[in-house]
Order: sequence, then structure tokens, then C-alpha cells
Amino acid sequence: MPPRQIILDTDPGIDDALAILLALASPEVELTAVTVTGGNCTLAEGVRNGLDVLALGDASHIPVAAGVALPLIRPPFTAPETHGATGLGYARLPTSPAKPSPKHAVDTLIDAIMAAPGEVTLAAVAPLTNLALAIRKEPRIVKAVRQVIIMGGAIRADGNVTPLAEFNVFVDPHAAHIVLHSGMPLILLPWDITSKILITQADVDRLLQAGGPIPRFIADATRFYIEFHQQHFGFDGCSINDPAALALAFQPDLAQLQTLFVDVEIASETTIGKTIGDFLGVTQRAPNVQLVVDFDNERFITLFIERMEALVRQIHGDAPAISSGNTSQ
Ligand code: RIB
Ligand code: CA
Repeated sequence: MPPRQIILDTDPGIDDALAILLALASPEVELTAVTVTGGNCTLAEGVRNGLDVLALGDASHIPVAAGVALPLIRPPFTAPETHGATGLGYARLPTSPAKPSPKHAVDTLIDAIMAAPGEVTLAAVAPLTNLALAIRKEPRIVKAVRQVIIMGGAIRADGNVTPLAEFNVFVDPHAAHIVLHSGMPLILLPWDITSKILITQADVDRLLQAGGPIPRFIADATRFYIEFHQQHFGFDGCSINDPAALALAFQPDLAQLQTLFVDVEIASETTIGKTIGDFLGVTQRAPNVQLVVDFDNERFITLFIERMEALVRQIHGDAPAISSGNTSQ
């Protein structure tokens, strides 16, 4: 089976970076572009991080396209307490010589989808501003895109930013509203599920046995991320939300899905960004998403760790070079 054409729409961000590495480590995936928006860090930081993580994965040929810096209406909202001052926790990567694509992320999404109708899958693991504007600029992408897998929302769980709202939807609820009401083929992987998809320090320690700059990066980035999750949520590890969303593009049987209508609050200041699932059909609104209601966490974590080890062997051979270049705080 040929690899699936996938675009990652990101705000890199620690778990976004892990999603990029998982894409590079997965033969089922042809990562055709990384598009970036503001979110975990600023747009400029996210573009920098996307370029440097691709270089770490020996994939600087993959274009990184800068998108929309700010939410459509809401004020800018970043998460340095979660992803660190630069967006990659304690990790510091060598600066890649690669330059961002000259094409805007919105046009990158439109052109890729329209050039291959029914072929392109979008893993949207950031605020949905780029996708929302792409829909407004070229509505035909709604029918031309193969599938959109969104990491976002908190349906039957507390939010991770407010008591009700998950980060990606909270940052740009108006963009989420456009996407949810677009008619696109959407799979929604909410915080309800990803908050339980944790890698632990033991997983990271196993990865470090592989040696080399990739495990070093993962260890330095996730050390910050684990500290945050322990302090804020009492988790024994950190949620790798975005790699889990990507994995659904090539291992859909990781998830149990339920088709239903999901809406998002965009008016009230106290509940803005809350995603609402109509499980009883009381709104009588046509279903607009396939919601992930269960996920095989254990199988995915094993897959993720094994793919990272395979990536190290793929790039550095069985006896990887001593960590070169990246340093950590
Ligand atoms: O709520 C988690 C999501 O928000 C993840 O995609 C994380 O990277 C942030 O973007
Ligand atoms: Ca993200």
C-alpha cells in the first residue's frame, strides 16, 4: 500500500515535535508539509522549531510553511509554562540552515489538497486558524480533502486551559467553529482521550539507551513536559496528544469512534472554547465528526517508542554517533 500523503498543521510545541518525528519514522506516512500557526509558542518560534526538528530527523527537504500568527478574533494566547521559553522545553537544537517555504500555510494546504483530490490527509494538532482560513479562501477543499484528524476539544472531560476548554480550541474557538461546521470529514481526538496517553520517564530512559541526538532531544523536551504535567495535573508522565492524532492516519484501529454532532461555544466569556457533544441527538443536528471515544494507549505508546528507536537506527545506524550538536539546559 502506498504511503498516505499527510500534512501536519502544528504549533511546535513539544508534542507537535514528537508528531513530526513519528511521521518521519513511519513508512506508512509521506509527510508532504509542515504548516505552522501560533499556539504553544509564537508563530516565529514554531517555524524555527519545525525547521530544527525536521533537521534533527534528517528531513530538511520537507517544507515548513508559516501560517497565521494570531487567532481570528481572540487575543494571542501561548503556553510557555507547558512548552518552555522556546517551545521545546529544556531542549536546544542546532539551528537548521533550511528556510521556511515562501508559500503561506493557507495556500500550502489549499494547493496540496486541490492538487490531489481525495489523497491528502491533514493532521491538525494546533489551533485551527490556518485550516479555517483555507476553507474560507477555497471552499472546495472541504470535499477534496481525504480526511482531517483534529487533536482538540474536551467533550466529557474538564479542559486543560479552563475548566471547560482544551488548548487548541480555546486559543481559536472561532476557527474551530468554522471547521466543525464546514462539512469536512473530521475525526476528533479530544483531551478526554489524550490526557491518558502518557509517556513516562521510564519510557524516555529506555529511548536514551538508543543513544544519539534524537533520544537526547526527546529526553530534554519531555523532561520539561513531564514536570508540567506532574505539577498541574498530577500525571505520572506527559500526554503525547499530537503523535496520537497522527497515528490515527495510519493505524485507525487504535481508536473506537462515535459519530455525533459536536459544537463549540464562541459567545460566552466564561464558557468560550467549550466543545459540546450531542450524544443523545437532542439538537437534531446532523453529525459532523467521528469522535474518538476509546483508544489503545498501551499499543500506541509501544508503537511510538519502537518507531523512535527505529528512527535512530535509520539515521544513525545501529551504533549511533555520540550526541552531537544539541545541548540542553
Ligand atoms: O491540548 C493539547 C494540544 O494543545 C496539543 O496539540 C498541544 O500541542 C497544544 O497545541
Ligand atoms: Ca499542538
